[in-house]
Amino acid sequence: MLDEIQKIGSEAEQKISAAKTTAEIEEIRVEYLGRRSQLTSLLRGIAELPDAEKAAAGKAANQVRAEIESLLSERETALADGEMAESIAGGGIDISLPGAPALPIGNLNLITLTRRRIEDLMVGLGYRVAEGPEIELDFYNFTALNHPEGHPARMVQDTFYVAPGSLARALDDEVLLRTHTSPVQVRAMESQSPPLFIVVPGKVYRRDSDATHSPMFHQVEGLAVAEGITLADLKGTLLELLRGLFGPDREIRMRPHFFPFTEPSVEFDVSCFACSEGVTEESQRCGLCKGIGWIEVGGAGMVDPEVFGFVESNGYDPERIQGFAFGMGIERIAMLKHGIGDLRRIFEGDVRLIGQFG
Ligand code: DAH
Repeated sequence: MLDEIQKIGSEAEQKISAAKTTAEIEEIRVEYLGRRSQLTSLLRGIAELPDAEKAAAGKAANQVRAEIESLLSERETALADGEMAESIAGGGIDISLPGAPALPIGNLNLITLTRRRIEDLMVGLGYRVAEGPEIELDFYNFTALNHPEGHPARMVQDTFYVAPGSLARALDDEVLLRTHTSPVQVRAMESQSPPLFIVVPGKVYRRDSDATHSPMFHQVEGLAVAEGITLADLKGTLLELLRGLFGPDREIRMRPHFFPFTEPSVEFDVSCFACSEGVTEESQRCGLCKGIGWIEVGGAGMVDPEVFGFVESNGYDPERIQGFAFGMGIERIAMLKHGIGDLRRIFEGDVRLIGQFG
């Protein structure tokens, strides 16, 4: 029996070293170690041997079995390496390798980063982020913001009208792409009674296209409504926001302006962060603020009682509550902060530009 065991061992050894593929190795494994192999049946027969031979035969059989196992796995590893190398050389892919060169991790778009910065600053002041639809009714975009039909202020915000057919007829109103985030003021007041403190970021649309205007751009709106709100609160809030965006030494100023939905209305400016009082050290006139010392940022004002009139039944009694609102362009903030001259660059997706932020 011992001879037989040795013979099986050397036969297996020869076959293993002659094997050319991992598939052949698998066949040899079944042939020599499988349940129906010679070695397995020999091992089973050991029980019937006379006691004197049992131990030696069992030991020899187990030893040969272990040898065959280790030769098989050694040869299998060598063949597998060769097969992988061949497959790679032939254009196959080694799926076990990490991606090389490692792909760089992307970053958030400048508009997203700027929007989040504004949201964070406003949330820090106790505001809640609110959103509204980009496809809007004329009522919210214009009428409820005190732009009655035919009002000339509608003309400076010409937009894209959609679904002139069934939807608009069913709603008995025009449907359009909103021209500003201000309609969310009315929607928010309809759904929540005062006090209300919201910041509203979002996409807006206008029939404009040049280096500083795009048919789609982003705005952020602020609205604060409660008893006893004054223009001083507006000024303090804007100061806090703009210092957070442009640096702790900034000052702000408000200039009288007109918006139909605020009274009084202002435009607000931030002190230039590239010069002192409009003059740079190298050249006399500052390029960023054009020598003025101030940079226009957005529009604001005290909510017009006419606007409250549209939501009066929800607790917005113009005799009792006051509010301020402001709006500004997110692209404009990002362009000012990072010295980007052409708005269109932000939307082109060129990684040399958008990869610089975040
Ligand atoms: N919605 C105005 C625009 O797009 C900006 C604006 C002005 C928003 C005054 C306001 C505001 O909330 O009070 O031109």
